[in-house]
Amino acid sequence: MDALLSLFPPGSEPAADGMLRIGGCRADDLADGFGTPVLVVDETALRARAREYRDELAARWPRSRVVFASKAFPCTAVQRVMAEEGLGLDVAGAGEIVTALKAGVDPRLVVHHGNAKTDEEIGMAVEHGLGLVVVDNADDVDRLEATVPAGRAQDVLVRVLPGITAETHAHVLTGHEGSKFGLPPAAAAELIARIERSPRLTMRGLHVHVGSQILDVEPFAQSVAPLAALGEFPVYDLGGGLGARYTYADEPPAVGAYLDALIGAAREHLPAAAEVIIEPGRSMVASAAATLYRIVTIKRGAVTFVAVDGGMGDNLEVALFDQRFEAAMAARLDAAGDEGETVTVVGRHCESGDVLVDGVRLDAPRVGDLLAVPATGAYCFTMANNYNGTRRIPVAFAADGEARLVVRRETWDDLLARDVE
Ligand SMILES: Cc1ncc(COP(=O)(O)O)c(C=O)c1O
Repeated sequence: MDALLSLFPPGSEPAADGMLRIGGCRADDLADGFGTPVLVVDETALRARAREYRDELAARWPRSRVVFASKAFPCTAVQRVMAEEGLGLDVAGAGEIVTALKAGVDPRLVVHHGNAKTDEEIGMAVEHGLGLVVVDNADDVDRLEATVPAGRAQDVLVRVLPGITAETHAHVLTGHEGSKFGLPPAAAAELIARIERSPRLTMRGLHVHVGSQILDVEPFAQSVAPLAALGEFPVYDLGGGLGARYTYADEPPAVGAYLDALIGAAREHLPAAAEVIIEPGRSMVASAAATLYRIVTIKRGAVTFVAVDGGMGDNLEVALFDQRFEAAMAARLDAAGDEGETVTVVGRHCESGDVLVDGVRLDAPRVGDLLAVPATGAYCFTMANNYNGTRRIPVAFAADGEARLVVRRETWDDLLARDVE
């Protein structure tokens, strides 16, 4: 049971009758109160992780800032927690700017990304005074020069493609040669020279990000040296990408070990007076949440399929990059492990690829039982969709035995709201 519990938000435990408790709240109470599926966030765990990142970075490089990569969980309430814990926010898209501002973040602590920023987004970044725009290409510079009013200058970083292929799924790799993100060093140098001549832009520094769900610290360290060859700047944003723990077998580096490697490389290659920014997303939020489903049907044959009331409408990570998750019967946590039968947990969508867990042992699953899938805090909320007319699922925060809804479930009216005929 300890192995299973270790995948749920820290502090999760079984109640006396064996029912899973997250943030001190029983899974059956959460399911009754908010319906299923429901994404449950342990607020205490979320805040603790934000502080861990902030303090561990400050201990190693005092002139530093953690900005949460909003894309991993761009829910206003989550962004608000990050802002309250003193973090900045990385936004990639106009919608993330909207929610970040609603969350109350200081716009000067917002870092704006995107490989194809539109006029609208650049306009919003400039209008709201976002702290840093990360230039990905020459068109970003054209747009910024056309948008920034005379007499003002927008601080920018240039995204450098370091040519590093980290070990992770190809779909979440970004720093390799041939990536659509950023500019190879020679092209970056040309654009930097242009920015330095521009009266509307202030060249503040460089950005690098090698990919996501990376379980080895080496690629992070290796990504720093290519920046040093481009000159000295006041700001270096070294991206995110640290892997999260999804399965019993995963052993992601601790935040401290990751930062030892990254900041070790920064000490070697970057000016000591520079400000260092990091942008963790997945590893900040994945383990702070779990999704509760209800079993709808069980089909026994060559394979036992346990089908739940959600699936790829609320978790696209499996279909997108084969991410493995684990699952457990919420009422019988203590029975997980050697007992039970091996099943495939599938969703209710019309795709054979709609699999949540391919091969997991569950103890006596029955129709109507609650199934808990841990580590669903990253990229599940944001990639939720309406496939098969499904209503996007709610988000509840649980802390100290109290739960509250922070995003409600979509309604049928929401589904019809955009129809104009
Ligand atoms: C520029 C940038 N920064 C940060 C992140 C966050 O990465 P992760 O969620 O893997 O920490 C991403 C996502 O891939 C990104 O593209």
